[in-house]
Amino acid sequence: MIRLLLFIAVLVSFSKAEEEQNNDVLSSFLKWSSHYIPHVKDPMRHYQTWKKTWDYVQEHNGNHSSGLVNYSLSMNQFAALQLDPHIITQTHNQIIPDDRKEEFEYPFDIDWRTKGVITPVQYDGCSQVLALVDAVNSAVAIKTGHLVPFSAEEVSDCCFGCICDPGPQQADPPTACVKRNGGLCRDIDYPYTTNMCMCHECIDGSVRQPIQDYHNIANGSEKDLATALKKQPVIVAIDSSDPSLKLYKSGIYSSKNCSATHLDHMLLLVGYGSKDGEDYWLCKNCWGEGWGMKGYVLIARNKNNMCGIASKASYPIV
Ligand SMILES: *[C@@H]1O[C@H](CO)[C@@H](O)[C@H](O)[C@H]1NC(C)=O
Ligand SMILES: *[C@@H]1O[C@H](CO)[C@@H](O)[C@H](O)[C@H]1NC(C)=O
Ligand SMILES: *[C@@H]1O[C@H](CO)[C@@H](O)[C@H](O)[C@H]1NC(C)=O
Ligand SMILES: *[C@@H]1O[C@H](CO)[C@@H](O)[C@H](O)[C@H]1NC(C)=O
Repeated sequence: MIRLLLFIAVLVSFSKAEEEQNNDVLSSFLKWSSHYIPHVKDPMRHYQTWKKTWDYVQEHNGNHSSGLVNYSLSMNQFAALQLDPHIITQTHNQIIPDDRKEEFEYPFDIDWRTKGVITPVQYDGCSQVLALVDAVNSAVAIKTGHLVPFSAEEVSDCCFGCICDPGPQQADPPTACVKRNGGLCRDIDYPYTTNMCMCHECIDGSVRQPIQDYHNIANGSEKDLATALKKQPVIVAIDSSDPSLKLYKSGIYSSKNCSATHLDHMLLLVGYGSKDGEDYWLCKNCWGEGWGMKGYVLIARNKNNMCGIASKASYPIV
């Protein structure tokens, strides 16, 4: 009898622990949904889908704790990607505040952020436009000592026809288009306008910052990439299709799944360093400050051209 009672007591406490755990997950979901998809009327409808991503993140972070992987993941805005397309659109348009304390404890041999030549992290879908403008911003700031933002709208209108899609697969490096156009207007001289999509002059007759030329890194050469980075920040293209990158939180990113030739996203390379024998590149992304390490990512360096980081890199010469 006592044995049976004991057995029941164990069963009850076991399911109680499970229930508490479920409650924890549920409250995490409610916290996440009120932050990332506050406009959704019936968030519980998405709970099961969200939970799959949650389980993946928990498992990955368990692997991180036991040293199997060198980066961690978080339930950020992209945890909504498996939900319906309606949610994705609205989530993408949201500015996500950074409410996390970051442990950015990685040393750098080069870090252009410390030189005052990098503009703040943005939240925008078109990475090739932003990486290019960022690279021009930095090149001009290094040359003149003044960080003056140039126009992303102009690059979008004049080089991509307002369509972000063609992307880094284009034969032409994006800098070539800006060079052909005679350079770039300052952001204040070619401000953002909704759906204009027509390439025009800088306003009030102000002149463009000319782009003398651009330099392409030898395909796949991380050595060349490091040499270029000593001069200035560099535009890099990567394969961003592994879902783990979207959920990246911190650490040195690497993936067995990403390719060195399928390039679908651009970043601004701003530094490199090493820690505990692991080398990494420091890149600025355009997925907001709430993603990654305050908007930045460390990508494994000297690891066989991880995710194609050295496959299609270039920088503007101003
Ligand atoms: C965690 O590591 C195990 C063992 O290497 C692996 O089978 C599993 O796929 C990993 N999980 C994730 C989410 O990466
Ligand atoms: C993680 O870093 C350690 C050194 O700190 C290294 O030995 C290991 O190969 C790295 N793991 C991965 C998956 O890159
Ligand atoms: C690689 O991609 C496949 C298919 O997208 C996925 O099932 C698998 O978990 C991925 N592996 C890793 C290590 O991320
Ligand atoms: C880089 O070289 C690889 C083969 O080594 C090739 O498949 C790829 O298209 C090249 N990439 C670029 C951007 O030229």
